[in-house]
Amino acid sequence: MASFIWFLSVVFYAKLMCAESTDKLVSLDCQGEIHGVYGEDSLLKCSVKSSGDPVKIIMVSWWRTGEDTPLFVVSNGEIVQQKDQRFSLAHPGSSIDVSFLVKNTKRTDEGKYQCQVITDSGEDQSVISLYVIATYSQPDMSSVPEKDIVEDTEITLFCNASGGYPVGMVHWYGVFGTNWTRSAVTTVEKTTDKRVNLSSKYTLRASSSFPTYRCSVLNSKGVEEGKAELHLPFREQSVKATDPEKGALNVIRMQRIQT
Ligand SMILES: *[C@@H]1O[C@H](CO)[C@@H](O)[C@H](O)[C@H]1NC(C)=O
Ligand SMILES: *[C@@H]1O[C@H](CO)[C@@H](O)[C@H](O)[C@H]1NC(C)=O
Ligand SMILES: *[C@@H]1O[C@H](CO)[C@@H](O)[C@H](O)[C@H]1NC(C)=O
Repeated sequence: MASFIWFLSVVFYAKLMCAESTDKLVSLDCQGEIHGVYGEDSLLKCSVKSSGDPVKIIMVSWWRTGEDTPLFVVSNGEIVQQKDQRFSLAHPGSSIDVSFLVKNTKRTDEGKYQCQVITDSGEDQSVISLYVIATYSQPDMSSVPEKDIVEDTEITLFCNASGGYPVGMVHWYGVFGTNWTRSAVTTVEKTTDKRVNLSSKYTLRASSSFPTYRCSVLNSKGVEEGKAELHLPFREQSVKATDPEKGALNVIRMQRIQT
């Protein structure tokens, strides 16, 4: 009985000490939200604050919240768990800065991360949210039919941009800056790595008086990330061999249109 009471008091004392040190001696100060970019490095900033003497860090662990195994653990200066080569501490060996570095950030890295730190003077933990955006590829424009377009026939133009996030927009313009966006339909395809492809389709009647179309890809904030231009590939008119002078004139006229 006596030993049991002794045990209880030890547990109670330990709890008291722990609570005291968490409240007073050591705290973990983390940036609440980080905005990362696909393909770049993301720094999840956390530092250990102590009110008294400098503390010695015994263990640092980083977790995805809700997961059973940690992403990264350093115990007494040794890496004992590293789930992915892209994960590391930004300043290994520092007794203050326990920031987590995610190299070559992926869209699937988006989520909540928990940092836990155990020092010789107490422990603390904190949660950071990582958001990851992705820039769209430069758009590719194409036409159906691909070439030999005949005057006054129906054609379809495409403007595709891939690998962005969040969902963006495609705007269409004609040769004199006419805004054709309302005549186009943009579809969004999700990629397996949680990005999106945009494919915008614009169907029109071909006219050599309006031979050029432009499209512009904007991110979710309306900022242009890329643009492309397409000159409708009209069928070359056959030049009549019987009238060499007129034929030469036609060639000159066509060159003017093309340049
Ligand atoms: C754009 O996407 C459409 C529909 O997915 C496809 O038919 C077309 O070939 C694509 N164009 C280019 C240039 O990738
Ligand atoms: C073109 O039209 C779209 C859709 O109506 C609009 O969002 C966009 O701002 C217009 N572009 C310009 C340059 O006005
Ligand atoms: C998205 O675009 C990329 C690059 O064009 C392509 O490789 C991928 O298959 C596309 N994914 C989907 C779901 O459309």
